[in-house]
Amino acid sequence: MSRLDSAIRRLQAQRACLGHAADIIEGRGGGERVDGVVLELGLGNGRTYDHLREILPDRTIYVFDRQLAAHPDCRPDDDRLFLGEMASTLPHAAARLPAPAALAHLDIGSGEIPETERNIAGVEPPLLAMLAAGGMVVSDQPLPTLARSAGIDAVGPPPEVADGRYFLYRRAKL
Ligand SMILES: C[S@@+](CC[C@H](N)C(=O)[O-])C[C@H]1O[C@@H](n2cnc3c(N)ncnc32)[C@H](O)[C@@H]1O
Repeated sequence: MSRLDSAIRRLQAQRACLGHAADIIEGRGGGERVDGVVLELGLGNGRTYDHLREILPDRTIYVFDRQLAAHPDCRPDDDRLFLGEMASTLPHAAARLPAPAALAHLDIGSGEIPETERNIAGVEPPLLAMLAAGGMVVSDQPLPTLARSAGIDAVGPPPEVADGRYFLYRRAKL
């Protein structure tokens, strides 16, 4: 597969999984709505942030990144942006956010496997502490700490996404 095809598949999987998780937390298709905010972990150029605000227009989205490099049209307001290392900014935000997270999207893979694993390991514990009952996590990387945590279930991707391309988890409802 060419690198172009691979990039297109990754973006299609990302969009499909975000849509799937949004449907679940909104209760579209039968389940109960999950109250809470949305966390975008990895603003980058703002592509998925822009998509999240389109598919979840009634949710407040808090955004995390080391630096602000997004397209000017895809920047959150200052009071919804946490700049710095997520291992530090997530606990700081947790004490200030108005509600736990109904949905968190992680897009923080760097292409370097050991570095990405270290990065993920620093982000998972504070993220876990911020997740609402019934809340969803959508990630470009597998999340081993979440997968091992009591009360967290791996969720299969939507049918159009191959297993192992994008990763979804859900905290059990109380
Ligand atoms: C792949 S880009 C995100 C792309 C974005 N979702 C989009 O659609 O445009 C990853 C971003 O995560 C940020 N990032 C990765 N690890 C981080 C960490 N530990 N703390 C803060 N930001 C981090 C990087 O600075 C980078 O901007």
